[in-house]
Amino acid sequence: MPGLAARRCSFLALWLILSTAPVHSTPDTADFSWHKIVPSEELIWHECYSSGHQCARLKVPLDYASTDGVSAAIALRRIRSVVPHDSDEYRGPILANPGGPGASGVDFIGMAGERIAAVVGPEFDVVGFDPRGISRSTPRSSFFETRAEQNAFWSSEVTSMSANSSDDALARMWAQGMLLGRLAGERDEGSLWFMNTDYTARDMLRLVQAHGRDKIQYWGFSYGSVLGATFAAMFPDKVGRLVIDAVMDAEDYYAGEFSNNLIDTDKVWSAFLNECVAAGPTRCPIYAPTAAEIQTIVDGLYASLRKRPIPVRTPTSYGIVDYSVMRNVIFMSFYRPYASFPTLAQALADLKAGNATGLYKMFEKLQFKCSCEADELLFENVIDGGVAVQCNDGKRLSQEFDAFEMHYRNLLARSSWADMWMHARQGCMTWPEFPKTNFRGPFVANTSFPLLLVGNTVDPVTPLWAANKMSKGFAGSVVLTQDSIGHGSPAAPSLCTQKHIRRYFREGVLPKVGTVCSTDGGPFDGPLPGGDEEEVVFDVDFGAEERVLLEAVRELAREWDVKVPFGLAE
Ligand SMILES: *[C@@H]1O[C@H](CO)[C@@H](O)[C@H](O)[C@H]1NC(C)=O
Ligand SMILES: *[C@@H]1O[C@H](CO)[C@@H](O)[C@H](O)[C@H]1NC(C)=O
Ligand SMILES: *[C@@H]1O[C@H](CO)[C@@H](O)[C@H](O)[C@H]1NC(C)=O
Repeated sequence: MPGLAARRCSFLALWLILSTAPVHSTPDTADFSWHKIVPSEELIWHECYSSGHQCARLKVPLDYASTDGVSAAIALRRIRSVVPHDSDEYRGPILANPGGPGASGVDFIGMAGERIAAVVGPEFDVVGFDPRGISRSTPRSSFFETRAEQNAFWSSEVTSMSANSSDDALARMWAQGMLLGRLAGERDEGSLWFMNTDYTARDMLRLVQAHGRDKIQYWGFSYGSVLGATFAAMFPDKVGRLVIDAVMDAEDYYAGEFSNNLIDTDKVWSAFLNECVAAGPTRCPIYAPTAAEIQTIVDGLYASLRKRPIPVRTPTSYGIVDYSVMRNVIFMSFYRPYASFPTLAQALADLKAGNATGLYKMFEKLQFKCSCEADELLFENVIDGGVAVQCNDGKRLSQEFDAFEMHYRNLLARSSWADMWMHARQGCMTWPEFPKTNFRGPFVANTSFPLLLVGNTVDPVTPLWAANKMSKGFAGSVVLTQDSIGHGSPAAPSLCTQKHIRRYFREGVLPKVGTVCSTDGGPFDGPLPGGDEEEVVFDVDFGAEERVLLEAVRELAREWDVKVPFGLAE
């Protein structure tokens, strides 16, 4: 496609033309149902969701330590390689995990699978799976007797409360957390104990073997980095290619603490302010000439919402915008700044003008409607499973309020966003006293192929520090640094990063130690709503392949939605 290359123009216009050609897949498998797939020990793929997507349910042992034959079924969804499987060029499956714990790999393929496939290249299948206990994998962890009860618990405002929203907020969060573990224990029908990362790593090995292969190819984000590191430490000779992106400190995770996540969080907020100043009033509606002035405006909005929360009605739901909602919306935007910052800036400007609808919409949850078909609910995505994995994995936590409060003080010493992070360890205090025999480190290994770790310089919840720390345990591993804000490399568009990742998967070449990739554009550089599309010319020659990659990278950044933890803050 020679016509695409070698014209000149600004970077911004490039964004405009690419954004006009989304690669949305159309659902054409309306009669697909997970119920129709009988779990099997071999992989049997069924057409599902969108054209080119296939699903399967793989039987694995519920308990790897027992031979009683009780099984679990892991739900899988893949995008098949473009290259035929009998071709010499076919390179097998890449397993993907989107984090949490508790996030669904099946949904992840729907959200990002096509772009991930475009990044890694046509020789690979991209395979998402719901880890055991989660979403469509059965048995699923669920702590509630009915969907209505479940919804009532999770939609309580305590589950998205800022610990700084009132004098008793922290104590209320503690109290609600104390209930959760008890409920989980009472409603356990015998499978709860088996939902952990150790067993999920074993399931991944089964998955690899069910594909007729010996070594894993894997790309995991956020909590998926814990899963990847666990796999690599448990099965070092089974590593083919393993990328962990948005790397967590696995030791801190297995200690149950979530104490090291907020090291760089305040820098994301500073970046919002600075990028807004640089973008100007047209692109950033909450613009003021200096970061300090925007900060003053935002502080005024916080103070105003504390005194006068605002009721909002939309066609689909209604609710109250208060201090906690505003804190949540801003904190959540840190994960995906390219997707959220322009919307956030508009919503804050609207709020300043007295209109809270924009902010509410960024937080909106669809109103609960009771469907009483038990059948429909079996494969529904619920967040309980993530709590189960996290609490089974982690050390037992103190039940004392004082310890909870001390943890908050320690987090506050590090970050002004501590009020949004107490949910991370809220649910495990009264967890049933199962024996802790699961693998929890050490994270050291001479792997059969070196790991690639990827970290952003300003990630809100998985600081680059952790990638460097984790790399030390894995011989020959390399940290690729992306100089960007956001959670996970795809949260910001960087052709440089994604080319390195593609090269690693395809050619087995690691970036040089110390490689830093910059981004292609900033979070406020996207198309303006209703803006004109300019004639596009490129600064550099783009080959057809590079163009496809760049489009995937930009779309990923705009649709990116990966969180840690997936539990209470949802
Ligand atoms: C408030 O903002 C929303 C967009 O978020 C808009 O649709 C609505 O018309 C605004 N309401 C008023 C009264 O301006
Ligand atoms: C908590 O709220 C008060 C205002 O009531 C504010 O001064 C303070 O900065 C807030 N702390 C954090 C960590 O957000
Ligand atoms: C890795 O290999 C080195 C050199 O052979 C050895 O000293 C080290 O103990 C090995 N580490 C592990 C975790 O096996």
